[in-house]
This record gives sequence, C-alpha cells and structure tokens, in this order.
Amino acid sequence: MTENGTTTTAAEEESANWRIDLFFTPFEITEERLKAYNVVVMDVLRAATSIATALANGAKYVIPAPSIAEATALAAQLSRDNVLLCGEREGKLIDGFDVGNSPADYSRDRVRGRHLIFGSTNGSPAVVKASGARGVFLCGFVNLNAVLDAVLASAQPFPLALLCAGRNSRFSIEDAVCGGMLIARLRARNGKMLVLNDAARTAEILARDFSADLPGLLSQCDHGKYLKSLGMESDLPLCAADSSSTIVPVLKDGRLVKYGKGN
Ligand code: MLT
Repeated sequence: MTENGTTTTAAEEESANWRIDLFFTPFEITEERLKAYNVVVMDVLRAATSIATALANGAKYVIPAPSIAEATALAAQLSRDNVLLCGEREGKLIDGFDVGNSPADYSRDRVRGRHLIFGSTNGSPAVVKASGARGVFLCGFVNLNAVLDAVLASAQPFPLALLCAGRNSRFSIEDAVCGGMLIARLRARNGKMLVLNDAARTAEILARDFSADLPGLLSQCDHGKYLKSLGMESDLPLCAADSSSTIVPVLKDGRLVKYGKGN
C-alpha cells in the first residue's frame, strides 16, 4: 500500500523508485501526504509562464502567496521600494497590485532586481500547499524539458507527484496535458517501467491526443477562451511555447528562485 492509499503489485513495488502520481486538482491530496513526494506543480495558464519569465528577466525571487490577503499583508511588512505585488483574480489585475498575470508584463525593465510577491487564484496556492514536500518545481509548457532535467537531477526524484493547479478547484485540460507530456518524455528518456496512478495514465493518453497542437489546445480550453474574452489572447502563444525557457522555478525557504547549482 502506498502513502496515497493505492495498492501496488510486487513488480510495481520493485519499481517504486519510478512511481508517479498525478492529481488533477490540488484538492485530491492533503498537504501531509504531499510531504512524501518530490512535487511538480503544473500551471500552464499562466502562473508558471509568468513566474519563469520574471526569474529569466532578473527578479530576485517570487514569494507565492496562498491568498490576496496574505500577499497584501506580506507586502505591508516589507519596504515597498524593491517589492512588486503581483497576481490576479478572475484573470485581471487586482486593485492596489503592481502587476497582473500576463507573462509579457514581467519585462526586464519591470522586474530586474525586484522582490516579487505573487498571489494567483490557482497556481500560488498549489505551490504553498506543496511547500512541505521534498522538492517543489513549477512547470508549464514553456519549461517542460528544463523541469524534467531538474527533477531527474534531484537527490531523490521519485516518488513524484504532478500536482495540477486546475481552474477554480476543477480539472483543467492544459495542466493535465502538461503532466502527461512530462510523463511521456520521462518514459522516452529512461526507458524504465513507470508506476502510474490512474490520473497519470489518463494524462498520458490526453497528451498523446493534444500535444501536437499546443496553441490550438490553449485557444480551445475553458481558461484560454476566458482569457480571450478578456482581450488577453496574446498571452496564449507565450504559454504554448513548448520548452522555450530553461528557467525552472524551485521553492527554497518559501521563495521561488531559479533552479541551478546549489539547489
Ligand atoms: C492562476 O494561477 O490561477 C492562473 O495563473 C490564472 C491566470 O490565468 O491568471
């Protein structure tokens, strides 16, 4: 029996080093159970893309906040000189915040040398929920290959949890497809038998169907259609650009920093 309450065969026990459990929403697993895993949080639209862009453009770190109230309280404790308060509600800039959640807003001019506090609806609470885990990486289509490399370089890559941020507590296809692509690439990379829960197997099947046209997927999924209705369609190709970034946000002492030597 695994930590997650699922049963395994003897052959699977032997391959337990290669176990991957995917969760379509963060509500499918407790914080306590996440502690046993190395965790990749999947948030394709748009937190992973915005945060990877901010770190690529010189932001010192990004503090993920579980709520707007906590983001605001944290900002009040810090000198506002070098701090940017970032995030969204219903996809839009929050009153009193400096930056919304469009990746293009995280330009070098805007973020270089700054400390970011980031409160989004789904992505940042999912990262906070996973914060007790052995490792926490943030992944979208944009940094998929780099995340895969970082996970495999971890001291103990498995068991691995792929925690989809989802949308307003519900399933989102783009996060599931991103998780499925990570699994498929891992399988291609090592050729070993993977032990997958049902959600991970399902995500891998979804990835087979949808990974050939990521811009089309983002244009047709519920959240993509919603962002288009807000006039934010230019965000979609940025978030669909498979492995266009080498930046992996990794959680260290409550802050998302660039994965690299020493972490
Ligand atoms: C989130 O973390 O909830 C998302 O990034 C939502 C968004 O597209 O702004």
